[in-house]
Amino acid sequence: MTAVVTGAGTGIGAAIARALAAAGHAVAVTDVDLDAATAVAAEVGGRAYRLDVTDPASAEAACAAAVADLGPLRLWVSNAGVSTMARFTEITTDEWDLNMNVNAKGVFLCGQVAARRFIAQGGGGVIVNTASMAGKRGAAPFLAHYVASKFAVVGLTQAMAAELAPNGVRVNCVCPGYVATGMQSRELEWEARLGGTSVEQVRQFYIDDTPLGRLQTAEDVASAVVFLAGDGASFITGEALAVNGGAFMD
Ligand SMILES: NC(=O)c1ccc[n+]([C@@H]2O[C@H](COP(=O)([O-])OP(=O)(O)OC[C@H]3O[C@@H](n4cnc5c(N)ncnc54)[C@H](O)[C@@H]3O)[C@@H](O)[C@H]2O)c1
Repeated sequence: MTAVVTGAGTGIGAAIARALAAAGHAVAVTDVDLDAATAVAAEVGGRAYRLDVTDPASAEAACAAAVADLGPLRLWVSNAGVSTMARFTEITTDEWDLNMNVNAKGVFLCGQVAARRFIAQGGGGVIVNTASMAGKRGAAPFLAHYVASKFAVVGLTQAMAAELAPNGVRVNCVCPGYVATGMQSRELEWEARLGGTSVEQVRQFYIDDTPLGRLQTAEDVASAVVFLAGDGASFITGEALAVNGGAFMD
């Protein structure tokens, strides 16, 4: 049974691919960066495919190829995402479009591809989307456009869960906090510059804002995705699961 992971060439997506492979899934490691996906696929014994989540034809082609190579689709993890940082009054329409297209529209387009495949297979299946703590809390500095895109993911997850439940398809999302990845490295630089402080001070703020007292790892998120994908979560759908060391409790 096939598990497709988007944005799996690095960071949280790569950790999800590793964890799913360790849990016995046949993993289709996909990314807009095929070289990055290929390296992770070689590591986990999966197959690599180029998949740009903003392009429905690309998503459909990667899905069809993965099913042909690895077997029927069982799990789709929409993890790919981008971020940029700017003061609200300075956010450009290009930045808005980039964040909304990859983070929100990408989850929509990939969700359609996965759902159509599940229904064509006779029903059943699991979708896990990657939202964010910023999908539940708007007070995230210099990230208004990103916040909007991630609130969209939480709402879309609920709507998809409600509509696809009769087909036996569960849909949930994870809401990570401060995860040490390439995305975070870029955000540390931007936030320090925009806030007139240092990278080290921003990093320390992230840790101080996390009751469990450390930066989050990609593996922390991956283990939650494995749980949501598995039979232990068989009666959980429409949930936005906080995975953030207590950084935001709603
Ligand atoms: N790092 C954090 O602190 C954090 C916190 C909350 C949520 N998230 C979310 O987790 C997800 C993964 O974040 P990360 O920190 O691993 O980011 P990252 O930048 O380290 O990796 C993102 C991956 O997505 C790929 N990607 C970008 N645009 C794509 C597209 N159009 N189609 C397919 N792939 C594309 C990139 O090539 C890259 O491999 C994102 O959705 C992000 O918003 C991250």
